[in-house]
Amino acid sequence: MKEKVFVTREIPSEGLDIIRSNFETTVWQPEVPPTRDEIVEKAKDCAGLVTLLTDPIDSVVLQSLPNLKVIAQYAVGFDNIDVEFATSRGIVVTNTPGVLTETTADLTWALIMAAARGIPQADRYVKEGKWKVGWGPMMLLGNDVYGATLGVIGMGRIGSAVARRAKGFSMKILYADVFENETTRNVEREFGASRTDLETLLRKADIVTIHVPLNPDTREMIGEKELNMMKPGAVLVNTSRGAVVNEAALADALRSGHLRGAGLDVFNEEPLQEDSPLLKLRNVILTPHIASASFATRARMATMCAENLTAALGRERPPNVVNPEVFHVE
Ligand code: GLV
Ligand code: GLV
Repeated sequence: MKEKVFVTREIPSEGLDIIRSNFETTVWQPEVPPTRDEIVEKAKDCAGLVTLLTDPIDSVVLQSLPNLKVIAQYAVGFDNIDVEFATSRGIVVTNTPGVLTETTADLTWALIMAAARGIPQADRYVKEGKWKVGWGPMMLLGNDVYGATLGVIGMGRIGSAVARRAKGFSMKILYADVFENETTRNVEREFGASRTDLETLLRKADIVTIHVPLNPDTREMIGEKELNMMKPGAVLVNTSRGAVVNEAALADALRSGHLRGAGLDVFNEEPLQEDSPLLKLRNVILTPHIASASFATRARMATMCAENLTAALGRERPPNVVNPEVFHVE
């Protein structure tokens, strides 16, 4: 008999077809994501659950899913899942690292360039009929990216892919990270990046970009104090998780002009709430959590997610396990 799987949203067919052919599959169809209760109701007999980063998979949900053996997350980040609790129940958690690294680095660079040079402002200027003088010596001036100092907070896979691109712009690269490993040694060797503490990075960088996972140590790691440390006129880009930055403090730093601009793909609450002060600011670029959203990458994430799920339910070790300890409990 085929095992039962609940998929919390339609994912690209490259992965969904594999899941459908291997398991008795239910896919959540509405565009609005399922609530906690709806997830529990749909997944109650399931051995497998395919989740998105917006699904709250906490201990209450997990306690209500007695047959669950694997949670295959369709994302690299997994801060929406209580992994510790899942591990204690012997549930394997998998994610989709690696395949989205370059696509996310591309979007990060789109935000860096757009924020530094004010591309959306320039676009609005033209479309709103404000372009009255052919060429203006002082018209829409921005910051140079070429030769500037880039501060990378979190030099993991994505941070290092961003740093690699910075080399083409002859940037000086500073980074802060809690780990020292092959990736960090490599960026030092290959791209001349220098390790520093967070405060020095914030004080020296012209452009700061964040690439840490969200966890208790990184939550609100960039607050009012840290924003004040940043250079006047600097630019901040965040494609990691919104809660790493205190959004109200960031809005203040943008409103006062202390920061020239920001590019944000992630927010404390997604979708961004209608009363968010960020919506009123002209010097911030807002994108709706689309860093990994290329056709090819989303298809690869779907395949990877399906392979992880299939391996785990076939009693094999999946290629991308978040909680390897799970194989030692029980
Ligand atoms: C997207 O934010 C992801 O974690 O994959
Ligand atoms: C995520 O893939 C990271 O390690 O930066």
